[in-house]
Amino acid sequence: MVEVKELSRYEGQEVTVAGWVDQLRVHGKVAFLVVRDGTGYVQGVLVRKELPTEVWEIGTALTQEASVKITGSVREDARSPGGFEMGLSHVELLGPSPEYPIQPKEHGVEFLLDHRHLWLRSSQQRAGLGVRAEVEQAIHDFLYQRDFVRVDTPILSGAIGEHAGTLFATDYFGENAYLAQTGQLYAEAACPAFRNVYCFGPTFRAEKSKTRRHLTEFWMMEPEMAFVDSDGNMRFQEELISYIVERALERCGSQLDLLERDRSKLEGVTAPFPRISYTDAVTRLQEKGSSIKWGEDIGGADETLLSEDYDLPVFVFNYPRGVKAFYMKQNPDDPETVLCDDLIAPEGYGEIIGGSQREDDLELLLTRIREEKLPEEAYGWYLDLRRYGTFPHSGFGLGLERTVAWITGRKHIRELIPFPRLINRLYP
Ligand code: 4AD
Ligand code: MG
Repeated sequence: MVEVKELSRYEGQEVTVAGWVDQLRVHGKVAFLVVRDGTGYVQGVLVRKELPTEVWEIGTALTQEASVKITGSVREDARSPGGFEMGLSHVELLGPSPEYPIQPKEHGVEFLLDHRHLWLRSSQQRAGLGVRAEVEQAIHDFLYQRDFVRVDTPILSGAIGEHAGTLFATDYFGENAYLAQTGQLYAEAACPAFRNVYCFGPTFRAEKSKTRRHLTEFWMMEPEMAFVDSDGNMRFQEELISYIVERALERCGSQLDLLERDRSKLEGVTAPFPRISYTDAVTRLQEKGSSIKWGEDIGGADETLLSEDYDLPVFVFNYPRGVKAFYMKQNPDDPETVLCDDLIAPEGYGEIIGGSQREDDLELLLTRIREEKLPEEAYGWYLDLRRYGTFPHSGFGLGLERTVAWITGRKHIRELIPFPRLINRLYP
């Protein structure tokens, strides 16, 4: 058996390909059968007078998504998808597919999400998820080249990683366990062991909001770097994002074209990225008509408003401590703010990265844990990191689905994860 992507090497030879029926067109005594095998599409040609009746009958009764094995000789054909077609001598039906639910017509999104297990096979979904896989690999490569050690952090935790408001709690033999909102605190613990580390895994937020930017389960990549300050943190982020975009442009051209992504919007994305302080961003937003006041978080609509002013992703740095997580380092020049950054993607895709320098002072960290009314006893181990060889360090979290939504130009992040978990959806 050969894969469609290798057909060019078999010109003039008889081969067998296995896959799923994409299309069948019967024109009298000739039929065209397009088969997808995951590596590409190939068109098989059936000619009635050249085939045993049984093969013709099986071949011309195939329906969308039936699985088949087709055998025939390979020949070049510019009009065929992939540039090659097969003159078929045999067709074997492996698995029939009567009344495939997803037809080549418009379906409502809820219907498609109910059939996500089948929707994955459609060309746009395959393109988006293909870019996701490439971006994921690009991230691993970037960090590997820079000697980062990947540490796998737990999904079940007794400590609240970010905010109490969006926790999934579960009973852990009589104790409360939470599904990880972040792997960061554990990555921080691994930092003194390896210096530069990262974790990359699913994270969970019981987000009550139903927006195109929120999932309840999403994948986050979180590097943690010893002896790096907030400025170095932002410089690392812009290098990483530039690399990811470059890789997508280099290796995902066909997927981006299929998704009709305007590639010129990505071509200019190279470091450095513009930076604006939170305080200046609030002033700018007010000038643009927003009702935001200093001290409030910058919401999705305001992020979009701000991103209108830039062709590149933009850093918003040093937010008020009241709207950010307890572990962010107090700004020594202005204790009302913390040394953090959000990276806002262009074209209204919102925050794709949240990062900060970490509070490395034991007393200040304890004060913040108490201020946020977090259960102190769950953070004994985390506070130990400040008791035994505390050190300046920084890190960030990159939301994979939001990043890929921006790169692919898809409106809703639910299409960029194979099986989205949303406030109203646990099926399939
Ligand atoms: O800004 P967040 O909450 O930061 C953290 O979790 C830190 N612990 C990261 C760190 O410093 N190690 O989340 C980081 C990113 C966001 O910028 C966003 O891209 C994504 O995770 N994200 C979500 N993506 C999809 N659905 C949600 N509900 C998301 N919440 C955050
Ligand atoms: Mg954030």
